[in-house]
Amino acid sequence: MKGILLHGGSGTRLRPLTYTDVKQLLPIAGKPISEYALENMIDIGIKEINIVIGSIGGEEVKRYYGDGSKWNIRITYTYQDKPLGIAQAIGLTQTFVKDDSFIVYLGDNYLQDGISKLYQDFISKKYDAMIALVPVTNPSQFGIAEIKDDKITKLVEKPREPKSNLAIAGVYFLNPNVFGIISHLKPSWRNEYEITEAYQEMIDKGMNIGYSIINGWFKDTGTVDDFLDCNRLVLDRIKGNQMKEESKISGRVYLGENVRLLENTRILGPCYIGSNTQIKDSYIGPFTSIGANCNIENVEIENSIIMDETDIKMPGETRISESLIGSKTSIKPNNSRQRAMKLVLGRESKLEL
Ligand code: DAU
Repeated sequence: MKGILLHGGSGTRLRPLTYTDVKQLLPIAGKPISEYALENMIDIGIKEINIVIGSIGGEEVKRYYGDGSKWNIRITYTYQDKPLGIAQAIGLTQTFVKDDSFIVYLGDNYLQDGISKLYQDFISKKYDAMIALVPVTNPSQFGIAEIKDDKITKLVEKPREPKSNLAIAGVYFLNPNVFGIISHLKPSWRNEYEITEAYQEMIDKGMNIGYSIINGWFKDTGTVDDFLDCNRLVLDRIKGNQMKEESKISGRVYLGENVRLLENTRILGPCYIGSNTQIKDSYIGPFTSIGANCNIENVEIENSIIMDETDIKMPGETRISESLIGSKTSIKPNNSRQRAMKLVLGRESKLEL
């Protein structure tokens, strides 16, 4: 069994962060969202993983994952120059897959219970290919499966009027037969080669295509709200490690190396604080992930993600909530007497003051 981890796409719904950063490398509790997917594949014994990279941040992905030796596996890369769809990305990996069965994992999807049960279903039921399904409340945002008598009858990508609430999660179990089908797919209405259509064709040809229902939490982290929800899910299971600073901390808090909690600081877990970060005169509330090398002063933060090397110092009592703040951001008081704010904001920044 081989693994493919997708890091292409354009990430429009997470702009402005994704103008410069690869969405699958955005961090949750100190590691990229796609690393949870990588770990899920390693957990079921996969040793060879190919990462599909796109035109935004491909080099950054390579720098982070390298040759895979950090995880004791072999990682190689495939370049997709335009985001022409999940099926097109998969088609590019044929020389890597060769004759093996394989899993394609979307690098921005998170499955809280991993993929062991799905993998066992795929193997034990000897399917030619399998999808993972999860009941959702907003089915028109997903690929949807219609089921009858325990068989998949129809797969529809983002239907306006969904006939089922069973979303297709971003973990696809496949065998190399799919490459022949992908090679003659036509682009969809959104100008993408859809993996949903490749599965539909396999079903129509009478191949043995199965499904397995996901019971635990599933998140597609395509939007800011979903990303923050995923942060909450991950932090909900975080193990605290604080041996020091206990008087300043309540609940489960993971402190990286060399974190400094200075005067008047309170932390209420679950929280993650990255290494070398310094916090002073602040309250860090539940479900907050703070990256490495940050300086946080005179602020209350809750339910938020603050990425690496960010400095925040507020002028008065201010609470930051439900926020996603990119790396190397600087927020500091304006010491002039005027009440004017001085802002340097990138395209599509969002402020609610
Ligand atoms: O999250 C599950 C959903 O993912 C499924 O229910 C849908 O059937 C499936 O089409 C997909 O929908 P999205 O609209 O969420 O796909 P998105 O464009 O966000 O891309 C999903 C992942 O695949 C993301 O990590 C980027 C990567 N990707 C995407 C495209 C279009 C590539 O690597 N290359 C691409 O060309």
